Amino acid sequence: MRLLSLLKGLPGHPLHPPMTDGAIGAYTAATVLAAVGAAGIAEQELAKGWWLALIIGLGFGALAAVTGLVDWLSITRGTPLWRTATTHLIVMVVANLLFGLAAILGHAGYVDGEVGTAALVLAVCGFVALTVGGWIGGSIVYVHGMRVLELPEEPATSAILPGEKGPS
Ligand code: HEM
Repeated sequence: MRLLSLLKGLPGHPLHPPMTDGAIGAYTAATVLAAVGAAGIAEQELAKGWWLALIIGLGFGALAAVTGLVDWLSITRGTPLWRTATTHLIVMVVANLLFGLAAILGHAGYVDGEVGTAALVLAVCGFVALTVGGWIGGSIVYVHGMRVLELPEEPATSAILPGEKGPS
């Protein structure tokens, strides 16, 4: 139970978004570096760089999946919010699987200093899914208002550092 509330984060400060920032940042860097390397610019170096960025993305992706799952489990089944969040879940699982496959197929290129075509195609497909999933993630928060407290009059101190007397 303690672990669950730890994974949930604090009121107004869910843990899922910072993990998604890490995943989206690393996956984006990996995809761009792979494309630049495949275009022939510093391919030897970027074959290593993009693959390492991909591994970092997978690490953050796993943390994003766990923290997202904790929030998803709290949603009432069958509601519009649940449908949006479940669509987000499915798209993000697909994105992470595509990046995972890209990492497996791209490992030989990491060793040989080449960006493989199949790995690059998988990464680009993963990036498209990631973008669609991020858009849907935004709908969960900015349309349905999940985990949003909307307290414009909350004092800045407790808004930044929720404590005993902070927002709940
Ligand atoms: C790499 C994987 C994932 C990424 C990059 C990602 C990305 C995002 C983004 C960008 C948001 C909007 C946050 C904001 O703008 O404040 C979001 C919200 C959300 N996501 Fe994900 N997501 C991922 C995986 C998952 C999974 C697997 C689930 C469910 C099992 C999930 C459930 C949620 C929920 C419930 C929210 C709204 C509440 C919250 O912020 O926790 N996500 N996600």
